[in-house]
Amino acid sequence: MNNSKIDDCLSTRNGRLFIEDCDTVDLAQRFGTPLFVFSEGLLRRNFREFKSAFSAYWPEGPTEVLPALKANWILAIRKLLSEEGAGADVYSYGELHAALEGGVDPEIISVNGGGKQEDMIEKCIQSGVRITVEDLDEPELINRIAGRMGSKAKIRFRVKPNFPRLWKPTDFAQEKVSIDIGIQVYKSGIPAQYLPELGNKVLKMPNVELVGLHFHGGRHHASLWYWEELMKEYAALIAELSRAWNGWQPKEIDLGGGFASHRDPHNKLGLRQDVVETWLTWPLVRLLGLFRPHTRYKIMGMVLSFFSKYPNRKMAPAIREYAEAAAGTLYAELKRLGINTRDVKLQVEPGRCLYGNTGIHLTRVKKFKRQTKPIPMNWVLTDTTYFFMAGGMFEYQFNHFIFANRTDDKPVHVADIVGHSCYGDRYLPLAHVPDVKPGDLVALLDMGAYQEVSACNFNALPRPATILVNGSEAETVRRAETIEDVFCRDVIPDRFKK
Ligand SMILES: Cc1ncc(COP(=O)(O)O)c(C=O)c1O
Repeated sequence: MNNSKIDDCLSTRNGRLFIEDCDTVDLAQRFGTPLFVFSEGLLRRNFREFKSAFSAYWPEGPTEVLPALKANWILAIRKLLSEEGAGADVYSYGELHAALEGGVDPEIISVNGGGKQEDMIEKCIQSGVRITVEDLDEPELINRIAGRMGSKAKIRFRVKPNFPRLWKPTDFAQEKVSIDIGIQVYKSGIPAQYLPELGNKVLKMPNVELVGLHFHGGRHHASLWYWEELMKEYAALIAELSRAWNGWQPKEIDLGGGFASHRDPHNKLGLRQDVVETWLTWPLVRLLGLFRPHTRYKIMGMVLSFFSKYPNRKMAPAIREYAEAAAGTLYAELKRLGINTRDVKLQVEPGRCLYGNTGIHLTRVKKFKRQTKPIPMNWVLTDTTYFFMAGGMFEYQFNHFIFANRTDDKPVHVADIVGHSCYGDRYLPLAHVPDVKPGDLVALLDMGAYQEVSACNFNALPRPATILVNGSEAETVRRAETIEDVFCRDVIPDRFKK
């Protein structure tokens, strides 16, 4: 038997996958499948690692970690992060509700988002959170509402610097689009051109205090050079604004999120959802159209098996390396440009890198299905669907996987691991799998960010439960939906009632 540690929460013991000290086969039996499972221990350790690593490279002021709620807004998980002293990056009214319900200190809640309506601004002012301004007319509105409420709102500008040196392709697009263009076409943030004038106006407003600046570039690339480049331009913009605003100095600087999780499931280059349609194989497909079907299928079969290797097995940098590249560069550049960093708060908003590796998804095999002609194909049909992991699908993720009840078995087939919606649902195309039997259990790794929160009910499928594991204990933190839940918003007008 091959007992080994996979990472800080996963291990194999006697042919089975364990998360902390819980046997995943027992968890699937007890809570049913599909199932999201989170490790409390690893989430706490990841948080502490962010806090200590970024503090190490930001020596003159406090550092705060504001996990992105959009990546995971399960209330119990939020509460455990609040126990650790985490803040929150919030986007919507619902996320603000989750942050406040989850016990986050309002001083370290950053409310982002363009087009904030009056009720949202009132709620922000009333709860004392930071309003991260995205629109040119937003400060005026905040000033008016705060005045009416007899309050002074603390705001920051979400800024949008230019990055002319980031010309490498972004990971966010399948086509070859450079990172600088990717950042520019994204709607968020106040374009740098408007900031000098806007700041001078805001600094005269009686009911708002401009306490700092915010920037979120996003995970366009997993590399450290990307972070160094982002922070150089961010620092340059901070210095430029300080000059334009009569020597204004920020009390808070937020550098956003966008750090890849260590086992980085991102797989743009291997986008084989529809492999025969990628730019790589399309010319070949056109050429093969000249051949007879038998020859065409034979060659396409060979092409498909050529693709049956996961291209992205590259680990992303560790949290500490990101901290050095991001906080270290920002600190050095601000110093060089004469911006005060003493007692200035540094804030960081990780999503995927904080939660990603703390969650797995368990799904049971329903069938092994195959065809040998005209193209050989194998399918492992499971009881989940990519509609329960839509966030990952948007971002070209192919997750690492383990057959949780037979971790020692060697792969013997290449098969598409597919979900049971009526779509193709190839969430793991061309995977190397053991001799699969109905009832086997597949564990998808790195499912802790953006997945559970993006699950939807396509095919009227009830969404799965989530459990939290702590040592050998496991508790439900979000129950599975019932069929009644799926239809609970439906209203049948009287005229259809007999
Ligand atoms: C403002 C802001 N902060 C943080 C994040 C988290 O990003 P990531 O999960 O890539 O770390 C996001 C994600 O879109 C965001 O919009």
